[in-house]
Amino acid sequence: MKNSAIWHPYTQMSEWENFPNIIKGDGFWLVDSNGKKYLDGVASMWCNVWGHSKKEIISTINRQSKKIIHSSLFNLTNNQAEVLAKKLVSISPGMSRVFYSDNGSTAMEIAFKIAIQYWQNTGNKNKYLFATLQNGYHGDTFGTMSVGFVPGFFSKFKKNLYKSIQIPFENSYRIKNTDKYYTLTLEKIESTLRKNKIIAAFVMESGAQIAGGVNIYRDGFQSQISKICKENNVLLILDEIATGFGRLGSLVEYTTQKSRPDIVAYGKMLTAGYLPMAATLMSKKIYDSFLGKYQDMKHLYHGHTFTGNTMACAVANQNLDLYQKTGLISKIKKTSEHLGKRLEEFSNFEIVGDIRHKGMLAAIELVSNKSKKTPISFAKSTNKTVFEEAKKHGIYLRTLGNIVMLVPPVAMPEKEIDFLVDGTIKTVKNLSKQL
Ligand SMILES: Cc1ncc(COP(=O)(O)O)c(C=O)c1O
Repeated sequence: MKNSAIWHPYTQMSEWENFPNIIKGDGFWLVDSNGKKYLDGVASMWCNVWGHSKKEIISTINRQSKKIIHSSLFNLTNNQAEVLAKKLVSISPGMSRVFYSDNGSTAMEIAFKIAIQYWQNTGNKNKYLFATLQNGYHGDTFGTMSVGFVPGFFSKFKKNLYKSIQIPFENSYRIKNTDKYYTLTLEKIESTLRKNKIIAAFVMESGAQIAGGVNIYRDGFQSQISKICKENNVLLILDEIATGFGRLGSLVEYTTQKSRPDIVAYGKMLTAGYLPMAATLMSKKIYDSFLGKYQDMKHLYHGHTFTGNTMACAVANQNLDLYQKTGLISKIKKTSEHLGKRLEEFSNFEIVGDIRHKGMLAAIELVSNKSKKTPISFAKSTNKTVFEEAKKHGIYLRTLGNIVMLVPPVAMPEKEIDFLVDGTIKTVKNLSKQL
């Protein structure tokens, strides 16, 4: 792009002459420098909750900015961080403490370090490996790429990654006998954890894998894994960064999944998508293992400049209060049903191979051959092609490979959901003509 010094994420820059320049948010809409409005169909990378101009959040920012914006948790504390930690613990069964960070990848790195050190602190120096499901995603740093390895994203870095055990796990769309497949996967997990005593923790996204292809787990799968972990003395680390806070319909997805993590990570919607912040929570058993005399060196060597940032904590506090005050989770249940009904309209399209939906997440998988399930491709990247088409219909979409993702702000009402679905239908219709 001319006159820009920016390198955009996950983007072939040579494909883009310019990017819409967003100058303001207006409710669920983004407004560019030409005055064009786009309905935010991806919640600004899956994190926006209330739209972009929620007055209560903005007042919190104004109020807090007059007191202090950032104070560190190194030797100090602050009320906002204290209150938030209590709130997070209170909504997260089995969790007892909170370690703050400023993005999801880092929250997962912290979870990994805590798990490894927990075993050392309790005298098990040989438990250090992570086991996980193939196609999980936990972020873009080296540690998270080592565990959440999405081949399409990360194969170029493979030689630099540390070893983890990846249990084969295909997308439900691409397996033949789901019952049998899930039974075999659980058996494989059980035998892997039983045989490999060096496994420190099993790591998985809670409720669904998203970035690795939108694979929504069958009921009972996560709870079975939770049970297998307990039986085999392996910690369970759950990643709720993209799936918690109502994205899949529950405030805390692992409660719905009837599973019990030892460590869980939150991010994205924690601050309603207004400020960067993430949190890693752990059980009392894990936390207590880090206590001892200073000379024991059992404490955690980890911290970031913005750990516990006061402004981000204030916003997260306000956000959680709003969830409660507005009854957002029950509202989401209704909106999600409406979204589910509207999604049925996509099944008539020849290029739609599969539709997957839970809560406020929908994936429409585009294929060039329905029976062979061949991912669709265009002259330009699918993302760019879909983005340009969607833009004509007033919506902002970002695909995941050949998957059109509808990940609206979770508080989006039915009227805007209808606009989003109508725009996506027009988009898919016109894409069919481009083949
Ligand atoms: C499940 C999951 N974990 C971790 C991350 C990483 O979060 P961040 O992009 O804030 O580093 C993401 C981001 O999309 C995610 O979807």
